[in-house]
Amino acid sequence: MRILSGIQPSGVPHIGNYFGMMRQACALQSKGESFLFIADYHSLTTSPDPKTLRENTLNLAIDFMACGLDMDKTVFFRQSDVPQVTELMWILNNIVGVGFLERAHSYKDKIAKGFAPNNGLLSYPVLMAADILLYQSNLVPVGKDQKQHLEITRDIAIRFNTIYGDTFVLPEELIPEEVAIVPGTDGQKMSKSYDNTIPIFGKEKAIRKTVMNVVTDCTPLEDPKDPDKCNVVALYKLVATPAELADLKAKYRAGNYGYGHAKQALFEKLWEYFRPMRERRDELAANVDYVWQCLAANAEKAQVEAEKTMTKVRYAVGLR
Ligand code: ADP
Ligand code: TRP
Repeated sequence: MRILSGIQPSGVPHIGNYFGMMRQACALQSKGESFLFIADYHSLTTSPDPKTLRENTLNLAIDFMACGLDMDKTVFFRQSDVPQVTELMWILNNIVGVGFLERAHSYKDKIAKGFAPNNGLLSYPVLMAADILLYQSNLVPVGKDQKQHLEITRDIAIRFNTIYGDTFVLPEELIPEEVAIVPGTDGQKMSKSYDNTIPIFGKEKAIRKTVMNVVTDCTPLEDPKDPDKCNVVALYKLVATPAELADLKAKYRAGNYGYGHAKQALFEKLWEYFRPMRERRDELAANVDYVWQCLAANAEKAQVEAEKTMTKVRYAVGLR
């Protein structure tokens, strides 16, 4: 089984990215052939400045490796090191209707936020389909917000296979329900675009401050509180054992336990949870050459697989 996922280098990775996608990707490494890439071509759709894009790419590589990627088990590479994906995208572009792409949620959301869309943004799902189909992926671990992109990918694959003959494997998404949407500090979905994230890595003081700012209601300290309606509990659940969670919930229901106490407990748990990864991150950050070497060596492996598919595709559509 081939497992593939990607993540854009569009800012500092947060615990929503970790629990929604990165953790699954790491856990799946031993379950099949694992491919993972940094989607730098996708990031161009939001026109970052070149220096920021380069820095974000390296930092994300370090972060992901620190979170548990094993370079012997995963082909971890930079998307743009395998330019065949843009060739496949061009070919797929010709079997996808514009109206179909205009109806994609992520495109409509960006427009609703006043973003002036470029052609890249409209074609974003076609590039994503190319990513997935190029490597003949069976399983794609992602957060819930990517579900529609997987549906679009399957549609495109079926269309291509129908027109040109069986070429692509039909992929399935893997979205674990319990972490499908990690809430941000304001209770909305945690996202870099909403300024409500808790970064995976960062200085202790800054992360503590972010956690202490998680929004709660204003039930007084003495009163009992409903743990099932609290953001702090929803986040605590991600890092606590079932017994610790039950204990926190009991304290909420009993009263005389304030949100400040709960946030402090959440911070402690988070800080401990990511401690080994933080240590590994420091080692990698001190050895950046090693990180670039890993990406380069893996890109070569990815290219071999990409060429296998492209040889079939070029022939199927009449380019050879
Ligand atoms: P962001 O919304 O912060 O820009 P991305 O779109 O870069 O995040 O998402 C990278 C991966 O992390 C995707 O697989 C996405 O589904 C997952 N992800 C992002 N935010 C969350 C969240 N709040 N809960 C669960 N998964 C998430
Ligand atoms: N669109 C994904 C996101 O924003 C990133 C991505 C690009 C991706 N190509 C992919 C994820 C292929 C899975 C498979 O999170």
